[in-house]
Amino acid sequence: MTGSHVYRLTAYPKEIVLRDGAKVVLRPMSQQDGDALLSFFLGIPPDERHYMKDDVTSPQVVEEWTHHLDYDRALPLLAWVGDTVVADGTLHRTRAGARRHVGELRILVAPEYRTMGLGSAMMQELASIANEHGLERLMLQAVAQKEIAAIKAAEAIGFVQVAVLPGHGKDLDGRLSDIVILEMPLGEWFNWWVF
Ligand SMILES: CC(C)(COP(=O)(O)OP(=O)(O)OC[C@H]1O[C@@H](n2cnc3c(N)ncnc32)[C@H](O)[C@@H]1OP(=O)(O)O)[C@@H](O)C(=O)NCCC(=O)NCCS
Repeated sequence: MTGSHVYRLTAYPKEIVLRDGAKVVLRPMSQQDGDALLSFFLGIPPDERHYMKDDVTSPQVVEEWTHHLDYDRALPLLAWVGDTVVADGTLHRTRAGARRHVGELRILVAPEYRTMGLGSAMMQELASIANEHGLERLMLQAVAQKEIAAIKAAEAIGFVQVAVLPGHGKDLDGRLSDIVILEMPLGEWFNWWVF
């Protein structure tokens, strides 16, 4: 299914300007984006891809995502420079049940587009979408001592570390690493923080 029951996404496509002046266009993923997304994932170093939940180098996995888009479960926001995807941020949520007020963010920026503010901008964008649509809390998981930029970027927009899961990650060589859980309240607190 393409589209959304929950989100109004009229702000997209949306152009943002990075710290070095590069222009990037943000828009939610569509069914036509499979090839560009696959190329993007192939450009991510294997030791970073290793921490992702799916094998993103598999054309079948990416095709499954683009052909069964369900924004209400996972809203993928892509950043484009021309025909090239340079970042992918996702807002995950469940529509029913005890956790329906909590969303989760995942962000990945192409190595050559890092440290220019794109990761922070994507986090901010997805947090604003979540806030506007009634989610009450956001969480983000990061690998301690490895995904340091993600932790810093998240803390800079208001996330705080609430838990550490010891040894929940294993690197390519089998070494254990801790997973840090960060959370941020939305609603009144977020509106005050952002504006
Ligand atoms: C995390 C990630 C998305 C950040 O993207 P980015 O576009 O480089 O982030 P920004 O340029 O907005 O930087 C945000 C903050 O992160 C910190 N940061 C960025 N790169 C850093 C690095 N290499 N080391 C330490 N801190 C870093 C800085 O505090 C920076 O803020 P500042 O520029 O105001 O000083 C990107 O590094 C990435 O894709 N990493 C691999 C995947 C990952 O870890 N994903 C997180 C799982 S949710």
